[in-house]
Order: sequence, then structure tokens, then C-alpha cells
Amino acid sequence: MSRHHVGRLDDLTAGQLKLVEADGTRVVLVRVRDEVFACSDECTHQGGPLSEGRVTGTRLACPWHGWMFDLRSGECVMPSRGGRVGTYPVTIEGGDIWVEIA
Ligand code: FES
Repeated sequence: MSRHHVGRLDDLTAGQLKLVEADGTRVVLVRVRDEVFACSDECTHQGGPLSEGRVTGTRLACPWHGWMFDLRSGECVMPSRGGRVGTYPVTIEGGDIWVEIA
């Protein structure tokens, strides 16, 4: 597990998606109020770019066919057979955002 600085909380607007790279991994950051979630950019359906999706609350919809993932767990909530997208632990320290990559 390695920890990577990926930006500042102030630079993320709530509800907007930001694609960053950490340790060679494409990671999508999503700010929901004062919390930040991090998940893989690759949809479990056909690899669509989740960083170009749409956020509603803590749910992220893929731009290609609309599969929807819960950002807290990575679980696909629609359809129910959609598996789980990778998520990464996030910590915020003094306004700096850190992501742990396995
Ligand atoms: S590639 Fe994401 S829903 Fe199809």
C-alpha cells in the first residue's frame, strides 16, 4: 500500500469529478460536501471512463451505458449484477488529499 498526494480539497468542487494519476493508476476523485471519495476510472461493464460520468449524491453514473456505482463501496447499484469498481482509501490532512493505492 502506498500513499499519494493528489491535490487540495479547496481545488475540488462538490459534485465535480477530477481524474488524477497515482502510482500509474487512473483515479477519479469526487468531493461530496467535505468528504472525498476515490475510485477507479474504469467501469466494470465495458471499461467506460467513470471520470466523465455524472454524480448524484454518493452515486456515480458511467457516461457510456449509465451503470451506477456507490462511491462509498464501489458496489454497482444499477444493474445489481454489475460487480464492484475499485475504491481507494482517502485521507484529508490540513486540506491536502491523500489516496492509498494497493
Ligand atoms: S461501460 Fe460503463 S456502463 Fe457500459
